[in-house]
Amino acid sequence: MSARRLYSTSARFVTSTKPTNGFVGAIGNTPLIRINSLSKETGCNILGKAEFMNPGGSVKDRAALFVVEDAERKGLIKAGGTVIEGTAGNTGIGLAHVCRAKGYKCVIYMPNTQSQEKIDLLKMLGADVRPVPAVAFDNPENYNHQARRYAETLENAVWTNQFDNIANRQAHIETTGPEIWAQTGGKVDGFTCATGTAGTFAGTTRFLKEASDGRVKSFAADPPGSVIYSYIKSKGKEMIRGGSSITEGIGQGRITANLQPDIDLVDDALKIPDADTIAMLYRLLDEEGIYLGASSALNVVAAYEMAKILGPGKTVVTILCDGAYRYQSRLFSRKWLESKELVDAIPEHLQKYIVLA
Ligand SMILES: Cc1ncc(COP(=O)(O)O)c(C=O)c1O
Repeated sequence: MSARRLYSTSARFVTSTKPTNGFVGAIGNTPLIRINSLSKETGCNILGKAEFMNPGGSVKDRAALFVVEDAERKGLIKAGGTVIEGTAGNTGIGLAHVCRAKGYKCVIYMPNTQSQEKIDLLKMLGADVRPVPAVAFDNPENYNHQARRYAETLENAVWTNQFDNIANRQAHIETTGPEIWAQTGGKVDGFTCATGTAGTFAGTTRFLKEASDGRVKSFAADPPGSVIYSYIKSKGKEMIRGGSSITEGIGQGRITANLQPDIDLVDDALKIPDADTIAMLYRLLDEEGIYLGASSALNVVAAYEMAKILGPGKTVVTILCDGAYRYQSRLFSRKWLESKELVDAIPEHLQKYIVLA
């Protein structure tokens, strides 16, 4: 009697990727997810690069790896050395992982306004976390300047300087952009995402513009309180701040060195209000089963707006930067949403997802 087979011979769930070379080898090559509901509604293909599937959980794993390997190549850091960065979020997490994987110490300076959850996570990943007073960039006590000064006092140490170190942008010229090009077979018409350091937006824009001989359109997405929208709309004449946003990791008060070389490639900008971001965050959960942080939801709103501008039949790609796990105590809390006056922005049939008090 032959044994009954308990498996299917179909290869539907099998891909041929080989084992990776440790943690760092698992960074990148993320899926490109078609957002079906929005694609159907617009008659376009709206695609999200699933960066929340990186091993450290965000798009910043790519930048973390590239800035560390850039320092290694330049001989700035050797075995047993220390990586120092000023970061309030995902870059620190990415760096902490990469440092453990490569045997470096990791020191993170951050504003002391950050949640205990974030501080604890970085400590669990082995980082030496140094909360410092939250002061503006032009104050010498700002966390970025403190990180730089501390690195200068140590031997075999590097300040990775994510905002103005263009190894960050290079990560996306060499990996994110080519992956999107390969995954769409070159059939991409538009790219949009928001900027923090702008490494992701600038590097991916640069690659897609070059690969398509300028055909792919690039729109910068911007939250309230950030100057990028006004800078692009006014062709560099204005930098208007105004307002604040619930999004984390995005929004900028200046043109970073990562954005500067590519700013002239940017075709247009979109300003996305928090009300649209939070409504999209809940909608993607309900209709697509995708659990995203607010910067990703903002990016999807921007892709949806861009699709409507470019018209039916076009393919628009954006970045799904990280999941909601790091923000859930806020994003799904009625009290917090009320404090931001955002409950009414969430359609009534989606308010069942507000499960925390
Ligand atoms: C959640 C999140 N989204 C978006 C970004 C922006 O990415 P970039 O720094 O490449 O502009 C960051 C950066 O830290 C982030 O943490």
